[in-house]
Amino acid sequence: MTTPKDLFANNRRWARQVTEADPGFFKGLAGQQKPKFLWIGCSDSRVPANEIVGLRPGEVFVHRNVANLVIHTDINCLSVLQFAVDILAVEHVIVCGHYGCGGVQAAVEDQRHGLIDNWLRHIRDVQQRHAAALAKTKGKPAMLRRLCELNVAEQVQNLANTTTVQDAWRRRQKLTLHGWVYDLRDGLLRDLRVPPKKVR
Ligand code: CO
Repeated sequence: MTTPKDLFANNRRWARQVTEADPGFFKGLAGQQKPKFLWIGCSDSRVPANEIVGLRPGEVFVHRNVANLVIHTDINCLSVLQFAVDILAVEHVIVCGHYGCGGVQAAVEDQRHGLIDNWLRHIRDVQQRHAAALAKTKGKPAMLRRLCELNVAEQVQNLANTTTVQDAWRRRQKLTLHGWVYDLRDGLLRDLRVPPKKVR
């Protein structure tokens, strides 16, 4: 079984390997970060942002929460977004959902999970908003997959509606929003091509 002590051993090995390959790596990064991407993804342990897109430390600014939600009163997510756009000047914001999302599944079940049900309520809202489209899917697995996609699309629109993104576009800052979905079964990403409406 992996213990916290093992994590330190892993860390020392990793730092040694990185330094051997590039002696100036940590010194260079310690001075500044200039990531081009902000990743908003699910907390799920199977969807590690840097790893699945092959980015190194310093290359992606990351925010993760259960079911990759962008909520207009979530000061945590909004602060990450504002800092990434206004200060770091990232050029791309990616909302990445994933099929098999436990948060999405829990949201549609009639079962209590505790405090998190209030968070997951946002996904139920998405489900209700798209009830007609979801009713056309065949079977529960297909419905859940579609809901994962619709959830990403909704969060991309939520992003577009934030003051941070609206203001960035108003001053013609280069900033593109993306909605992607990751498949746990084959490790591949798919671009959902869900361009947000600029004004809503
Ligand atoms: Co998830």
